[in-house]
Amino acid sequence: MLTSPITVVLKNGKEVTLKSPLPVNASAVLTFVRQLFHESSENLNGPPAQFDLISQKQEAEFLESLIGAPKDFMICAFYKKAVVGNLNLQQIATPVSEHCGQFGIGVLNSFQNIGLGAALLKQCIVEANRHGIWNLRMTVRTFNKPAIALYEKLGFRRVGTLHAVAKIGEKYLDEYLYQRIEEGRS
Ligand SMILES: CC(C)(COP(=O)(O)OP(=O)(O)OC[C@H]1O[C@@H](n2cnc3c(N)ncnc32)[C@H](O)[C@@H]1OP(=O)(O)O)[C@@H](O)C(=O)NCCC(=O)NCCS
Repeated sequence: MLTSPITVVLKNGKEVTLKSPLPVNASAVLTFVRQLFHESSENLNGPPAQFDLISQKQEAEFLESLIGAPKDFMICAFYKKAVVGNLNLQQIATPVSEHCGQFGIGVLNSFQNIGLGAALLKQCIVEANRHGIWNLRMTVRTFNKPAIALYEKLGFRRVGTLHAVAKIGEKYLDEYLYQRIEEGRS
């Protein structure tokens, strides 16, 4: 599905547009995810080269498939024509958990700590609730302080620790499990 576009002014005065990317944006999205994974793969669920061999056509097909997805969405932060941050929301696919979703989020180093992550996540919460997804979850490596600060600021609660779930290099790392239930639900 496509989310409603909004414009946000970041703490440094830069203006970004948050909107779902279209297949025509495949090149910008690919450039972004490649850079993100090379900069931040230790925080993410794939190696630095995860997206290096994905073609523009494959990315365009993926973005096309997202438009037709009933509840899943991607929000990209566009600065001029470049993508500088994004968030992917997936509805939990089991029938009893259709009100639940999980997401991944990433912001380029050069746009971190100026409120973009918060803007993306706030917009995700609004859009997810609008579509009946009021119970959100994600896991985060225990050393990822900026992500933990962001999630806790926006009402996520740490509900547990998963031990040795991420193999990064030769080490098996722990992750915290976070959950956010919209006020007034459950
Ligand atoms: C996590 C991430 C999305 C946050 O994006 P962002 O645009 O920097 O987020 P914001 O600027 O809105 O908020 C970051 C907050 O972390 C805080 N922060 C930064 N470094 C911190 C640290 N070492 N310890 C505690 N808080 C820290 C900032 O002060 C800010 O809080 P504030 O707005 O109250 O001052 C970004 O760091 C990122 O993409 N990292 C790489 C990929 C990643 O880790 N994804 C998440 C995987 S679970």
